[in-house]
Amino acid sequence: MKKYIGILGAGVISRTYLADIKTFYNDLEVIACADVDIERAKRLASEFEIKKAYTTEELLQDKEVEIVINLTPPQFHVALDKKIIESGKHLFSEKPFAPDLQAAREVLKLAEAKGVKVGCAPDTFLSSGLQSLRYYLDMNLIGKPFFVTANMTTFGVETWHPNPFPFYLKNSGPLSDMGPYYLSAIVSILGPIESIAAFDATANSTRHVYVGEAAGEDFKTETPTHYTSILRLRSGVAVNFNVSFDIYKSNLPMFEIYGDQGTLTYPDPNFGGGTPKIYRKEQYTDAVYQTSDEVIARKEKFYELPELFPRVKDYSRGIGVLDLANAIETHSDNRANGSLIMHITEAIEGMIESAKSGAFYKMTTTCERPEPLIPGGNINTI
Ligand SMILES: NC(=O)c1ccc[n+]([C@@H]2O[C@H](COP(=O)([O-])OP(=O)(O)OC[C@H]3O[C@@H](n4cnc5c(N)ncnc54)[C@H](O)[C@@H]3O)[C@@H](O)[C@H]2O)c1
Repeated sequence: MKKYIGILGAGVISRTYLADIKTFYNDLEVIACADVDIERAKRLASEFEIKKAYTTEELLQDKEVEIVINLTPPQFHVALDKKIIESGKHLFSEKPFAPDLQAAREVLKLAEAKGVKVGCAPDTFLSSGLQSLRYYLDMNLIGKPFFVTANMTTFGVETWHPNPFPFYLKNSGPLSDMGPYYLSAIVSILGPIESIAAFDATANSTRHVYVGEAAGEDFKTETPTHYTSILRLRSGVAVNFNVSFDIYKSNLPMFEIYGDQGTLTYPDPNFGGGTPKIYRKEQYTDAVYQTSDEVIARKEKFYELPELFPRVKDYSRGIGVLDLANAIETHSDNRANGSLIMHITEAIEGMIESAKSGAFYKMTTTCERPEPLIPGGNINTI
């Protein structure tokens, strides 16, 4: 059954949500949008033929709207999420959900009290690529995993985002902006985190704005712009996770899982369309005794594995909203739900804490791996 959606925050990412919901998700219909700047809401409404352009208060009073997607900058998430929940609407929030575990808990408690459901980005772990990666790992194709490396290396957002300032406020930076993609990929595929050791660095404390109205301006970052960490998962797997707004170019793999029988490699957990590749132990050991060109060539390469789920597109948004809509309809749990949200929020807080204190951070929350998608399904019945 169709669910009616309101979008709050008519900025950069709202366009991706709208284009993708319109194109791919028949069960979702965006009927209203709002912004603190009503002219922005009106522009978005006319671009995407949305019936109603509102102030925030008007959006929350509209009885037809069932789910609100909060696409405002991070520092407004908690206050606006609470308002959305108070109005009795289900909530899908962009990441980061909250600056710390306590704030996340408050929002989720309120939702429980009001009887509404909450979902949160990133929903990229529901993409064809990452679901296929999980499927192959669970099918034991690389045996027992023991180590993961995850590396998000960029030079920040100021070369492409017209409003880069919120990304460099206290408790923001690459960890809260990009960490959720990598951490939710790790946790949804390999299970919850047990403890964290992290270190921070800042290579570029003065940032230069390259695009938008503020182009040419310099400003100081209030947050570290690089984190290096080791995570120990409850399963025993060790993870090296690096996230940076200070690296121009790197050869580090974006996401690799190492098992006792081989390696799985994945292009980028920030994107939905990423085809997993595999390297098996036999490719290596065969070459000890056999020296044919074919065996030697096999020793050098990763092999592409087919994607097993509908591939929406490389960079897409909205599947988590569909998952939330399905959960509302069937009175079940959505996959990017409260326990995953709290665990990812705490992991980010734990990395910041550990980098500050120099001590290991012991996680207090845990979560189940979200239910996998069923291979062979279609986009609207995930
Ligand atoms: N830009 C991206 O590529 C991208 C990708 C994934 C996730 N996100 C996340 O999406 C969210 C929004 O990012 P964006 O890049 O679209 O930001 P943006 O700055 O382009 O747009 C934010 C919009 O929210 C409005 N707004 C600000 N405060 C408000 C308030 N109090 N009430 C109502 N509206 C308010 C602004 O006027 C603006 O139109 C962030 O949480 C970000 O982390 C962004």
